[in-house]
Formats: sequence, structure tokens, C-alpha cells
Amino acid sequence: MQLGASKSLVLAVDDEPGVLESYKAILEDTCEVRTAGNGAEALDILAREDIHLVILDLRLPDIEGLEVLLRIKGMDEYVGVLVVTAVGDVKTAVRAMQAGASEYMVKPFDVETLQAVISRSLERQALMKEVLYLRSEVEGYHPFVDIVGRDEKMVEIFELIKRVADSDATVLITGESGTGKELIARAIHQQSHRLQRPFIAVNCTAIPEHLIESELFGHERGAFTGAVQRRIGKFELAHTGTLLLDEIGSMRLDMQTKLLRVLQEREIERVGGERTIKVDVRIVAATNADLRELVKTRDFRDDLYYRLNVIPIYVPPLRARKADIALLVHYFLDKFNRQFSRGVRGFSPAAMEALEAYDWPGNVRELENIVERLVVISKHEMIQLRELPLDLQSSHTPLVEQLDAEGYDLRKAVQQFEREYIRRVLEKTRWNQTAAARMLGIHRNTLLGKIEQLDLR
Ligand SMILES: Nc1ncnc2c1ncn2[C@@H]1O[C@H](COP(=O)(O)OP(=O)(O)OP(=O)(O)O)[C@@H](O)[C@H]1O
Ligand SMILES: [Mg+2]
Repeated sequence: MQLGASKSLVLAVDDEPGVLESYKAILEDTCEVRTAGNGAEALDILAREDIHLVILDLRLPDIEGLEVLLRIKGMDEYVGVLVVTAVGDVKTAVRAMQAGASEYMVKPFDVETLQAVISRSLERQALMKEVLYLRSEVEGYHPFVDIVGRDEKMVEIFELIKRVADSDATVLITGESGTGKELIARAIHQQSHRLQRPFIAVNCTAIPEHLIESELFGHERGAFTGAVQRRIGKFELAHTGTLLLDEIGSMRLDMQTKLLRVLQEREIERVGGERTIKVDVRIVAATNADLRELVKTRDFRDDLYYRLNVIPIYVPPLRARKADIALLVHYFLDKFNRQFSRGVRGFSPAAMEALEAYDWPGNVRELENIVERLVVISKHEMIQLRELPLDLQSSHTPLVEQLDAEGYDLRKAVQQFEREYIRRVLEKTRWNQTAAARMLGIHRNTLLGKIEQLDLR
């Protein structure tokens, strides 16, 4: 989560001292650069330092370049390697990519290309690291559930989960469909002392109304027509564990009354039964409805609402936490590449922009489904804008195409680019102008002037 906190460490490997000097000169401002004149030296440095990215010329005096690449990958699977090949040596480049190189460049190249490739590689590296870090963090606490997120609001939720999981306090999770409510409920269970005990989920909308009571509390044989056998309900099944009452907003009022009583007494009666059965259950409820609104319209009991709303967790929609989009995309890419043995490496910059600009009405579930489908059907290593579903493409026409449509006035184009770029940095910093000015490398007053002049906001 400390993205960009310190300069990235880059190792440049080339047998020409002059080339190494120019790497240093070009990258010095943005990275810390180490250099090695041959393969052995490079491996030596890698063993000692936490290198983020290696620029590797494949023609080395001592060890064969591909061999060096393989050894690097053997030492650290996640280090990025940018291989450099001579003109015309496409075969070696392809082999290097198969061996795990993340990018390749053909000599000679210009400064801008190098800088662009490096910053792209480093960004991906940082995301990978972050996914790994978060995964290990998450695994430490609950080994079965992966929740990723770096947006401040999600980090707050993770911390809240940690704090409340181990109490038996009732949690009410609200948020739009597909935001991860069930995942959070599971995380709470898995971080609690009940983790070895059952986690039972009941979806209140999926059960026919006349069966919900029996579903929750069970029934005795002969309790109603069709009750040919005794049945244990979800409350009893969840005994000593956690019960997720999903879509609680759609529960009928008479059931709400019964549920409230159970929550107060902590005991149930099976339908058609005589005895009361004590249950020890941690309750987590979830809904995408606005329960307060339902309370106002008397469709939800206020006393039940207060009993459930002991610890409220609101999961924001994905469009309100744009910082999570890239992280989730890479997380799901990784997951589905593995699941389907595919080698999709990422999204083209235009495709990624479209993903970030889209407003995701189906939230994380929609994003997950789209990435899954693309990993399965894409024919490219880098998924292209045109491969995305149409509504994603149309919500986002790349800037250059927008400009194309508006004529070719250079000043206007530059201004539009500037506007778009500043807007994006401002969004990244949540309109914190001081932070944005710092990121842009301009004075805050200059930024204020631009905001005015470019009619931002
Ligand atoms: N932060 C996240 N990290 C990883 N995967 C996530 C995250 N949030 C959601 N998902 C995935 O998205 C899908 C939808 O999540 P989930 O079922 O928890 O949503 P929900 O809020 O319960 O939706 P609904 O209201 O429709 O029931 C699941 O496959 C889940 O694993
Ligand atoms: Mg759900």
C-alpha cells in the first residue's frame, strides 16, 4: 500500500559501459539504478538487493542471456525483466517472453520509448506486489477468502472487520449488488474464533415465502403437508458458528417478528415442534436495499433494524473506489489465467482506461465476469479496447479519437489533453489540490490557474 513511497530499484545489465551510463542518465530522476557488465555480476546483485526491474541485454560475454533470464526468474518469480535484443532477432525475443520476460525492446531505441516501457513495467510490478502483499495479509487472518482493495474506504472496512470479527456482535452489511457483501461476511466468520465452526448462508429472496420459516428454524415430521421428515433449520445448522441472513430486506413482516424473537431469546422452535432449542449463533445480515427507507415505509420493523444494525458496514460501489479497479483487474487476470491455463498479460492502455472510466453498475461481480470472459476468449497477450463489451467501449472513446473527431487544431488538442490529464490526477488525489500539484510537479497556484482556465470541476 506504500506505492511510490520510495524510488524503484532497477538493475541494468549490458556489456557496454557507455550503454550502462546512458541508462543511468535517463532513469536517474525516477529510479535508483544499479549496473552490471555481465551475467554473473547481475545475478550477484540480484541475490543481495531487492531489485524491482531488470533491463537485460540478451547478448552477454559470460552467460547466455536466456540462461540469465531463467536464473533470475528462478530467484524471484515476481521481478520484472525487460529484455533487450538486437534488430532482427525476433526469435530470441519470443523465447525470452516465453521464459518469463515481461517486456522486450529492440536496440537501438529512443529515450521516450525506454522511459515509457520502464514506467509501464514498474507500474505492473507494483500492482503485482500489492496483490501478493494483500493476499498474504488476508491469508494470515482468514485463509479461505481473498478480498482485495486498496481504496481508503476498503482498507477501513478491512480494519473494521479485524476489530469486530472476534466479538459476537451482530453485523449489518449494506451495499449495492456485487460489491462483495457475502465475501465480507465470510471474512468476518473466518477471522473470528468460530472459524472452525459452520458458516451458513440463507438467501431470504431465494426461498418461497411459505417455506422460509421451516428453512430457518426447521420442522418436525408432519408439521405441514409434505413435511414427511424432520428437518433441521439453518439456525440449528449454524449453531456455534455464523449465520448470514442475506437479502434480509425482502423478509416478510411476520417472519421479521419471529426472527426478532429468536434474536432476543437466542432460542428457536422447529415448525410443528414443542420444545425450544438453544442456539449460539453469530448473526451477520446483508442487504442491497435501504433498510432505513423500508423502516420509514413500515416494510421493515424498526426494532429488528436496530437489533441487526449493531455494527454497520457499508460497502461502496466500485465506481466510488476507482483505485480498486486496476488492482481487481490484475487480481482476476491472475486468477483466471491460472484457472484456464492462459497467458493473458494485461490490458492495452486504452482498454485499461475504458475499464477505469466505466461506471460498473454490477460492481465487482460484473468486473470479475468480464475479465473471466476475456481471459477465455482473447487471442491477444494484451487485451485490446475493441475486445471489450460494447457498452464499455462506448462509455469511453480514447482521447486521440475524440480529438480526431474535433479537427486537428494542435493547441486545442494539447489543451484537451492537459485538461483530461489534470482531471485524472485530481481524481486520483480526490481533488486534494496540494497533493495534485505535487504529483504534477507544478506550483499549487499554477494548478489553481489551470483549474480555472480549463474549466475543471
Ligand atoms: N474486494 C474483492 N476482492 C475480490 N473479489 C471480490 C471482491 N468483492 C467482490 N468480489 C467477488 O465478486 C463477486 C460478488 O461478490 P459478493 O457475492 O460478495 O457480492 P454481494 O455484495 O453479496 O452481491 P449481491 O448483493 O448481488 O448478493 C464474488 O465472486 C466475489 O468473490
Ligand atoms: Mg450476496
